[in-house]
Amino acid sequence: MHPQFQRELWFLIFLIFLAAIIGSAFDLSVLFISIVLFAYIIFTFINISRLHHWLLHRKDEPLPEGRGYWGEIFHELFLMEKSHAKNKQILNDTILRFQDATTALPDAMIILNKHQQIDWSNNAAESLVGVRYPEDTHQPISNLIRNPAFMKYLNKADYHQVLNIPSPEHPTKQLAVQIIPYVKGQTLIICRDISHIKQLEEMRSSFVANASHELRSPITVISGYLETMQQNLPTDTEKLRKIIKTMYGQSKRMERLVSDLLSLSKLETRPTDQHDNEIDIAALLTAIKESAIILSDDKNHTIELNINSQSNISGNYEELYSLFANLINNAVRYTPAKGHITILWEEIDSQAVFSVTDSGPGIPMQHIPHLTERFYRVNVDRSRESGGTGLGLAIVKHIVERHDGRLEITSKLNVGSTFRCIFPSTRLIKH
Ligand SMILES: Nc1ncnc2c1ncn2[C@@H]1O[C@H](COP(=O)(O)OP(=O)(O)OP(=O)(O)O)[C@@H](O)[C@H]1O
Ligand SMILES: [Mg+2]
Repeated sequence: MHPQFQRELWFLIFLIFLAAIIGSAFDLSVLFISIVLFAYIIFTFINISRLHHWLLHRKDEPLPEGRGYWGEIFHELFLMEKSHAKNKQILNDTILRFQDATTALPDAMIILNKHQQIDWSNNAAESLVGVRYPEDTHQPISNLIRNPAFMKYLNKADYHQVLNIPSPEHPTKQLAVQIIPYVKGQTLIICRDISHIKQLEEMRSSFVANASHELRSPITVISGYLETMQQNLPTDTEKLRKIIKTMYGQSKRMERLVSDLLSLSKLETRPTDQHDNEIDIAALLTAIKESAIILSDDKNHTIELNINSQSNISGNYEELYSLFANLINNAVRYTPAKGHITILWEEIDSQAVFSVTDSGPGIPMQHIPHLTERFYRVNVDRSRESGGTGLGLAIVKHIVERHDGRLEITSKLNVGSTFRCIFPSTRLIKH
């Protein structure tokens, strides 16, 4: 028995006993006991009514105060109410956190009931699958994902493998669908956008095809000559020298190709932790200009170098050398004899800008967005003739991005092209 209840019981017995003693003095014990019991019942009813009133209006009214046993009951209720409110708050916070997390998830999540109707879905389900919550609640999923392969997968009830289907909202996007059986006949569907993985796979296989194709032509030339010479070695030394010169040219081409491929692979995999050295831009560009003059040879280009800013940038020397040399060499290679090439280093709005402008043939508009793709060449034959591999601008793009910058290409047919690298103010070192 609870001590408070015991106390209350003893108090009632004491009251009855007191009423009996006082009543016996007047010979009215029964009446006095009845009055005490009646008063006690009224007191109890008043408290029951206060409790009932509070239960009905507990949202707006505070708990009534009481004394003794009723005080204890009200106090216990008060503690219960307080802990209930606290638990409710914790539950609300958890639900809010869960909602925030599912909203931020890039994957679509849909919960189906046992009739394959939508119970709930997150925000990504709308953009990837076209399922809106709460508008589509209780809609059969087959109305929204009208894909036979998906329905077969859903009904098969063997979800060990992931299903790839095009997104019902954006047919160009590819989704990986995974179904997870959930509690009480419910099913959780998770759809992940794997378009970029698909794209990477395609890029990888086209890269392998391109690289093999590029290597195949010099190998074919060299092995063709070797085969002929094996059967019939030319006695004419002039002819032999010519053959050896061609084979040497082709082997050089393979060497360049392999070295460019290695540079690209390094740029893709190496961390950028050696990218904070101050680079003396004026000295670097002067050195590249000197080698560009040698490359220009008898084409007699006018090569102008304008250092308009004394500021340097922080970065990696080898990579920046390769970046600037690639762009300047392209200008020299593709600009006809006696053309003009201007190399410019300047500061615009606290950003460091490197640009090379040439008076070359220009690049047709439709090619510009593809120039930084591997092996992309506007004029394949002309580029091959000049020894180009089509990897230079892919390397340039990687290096610019590894230095937090961006590459801009503008060109006008028969006027010339400008390749501009813009580095952010965070890389700028002022002097
Ligand atoms: N300054 C330029 N003027 C005209 N066309 C250019 C210029 N720079 C690049 N191009 C075009 O862009 C293509 C891609 O250039 P990129 O530097 O990537 O390859 P490449 O010069 O052919 O080979 P390499 O890997 O040896 O640099 C070139 O083949 C050429 O058609
Ligand atoms: Mg090039």
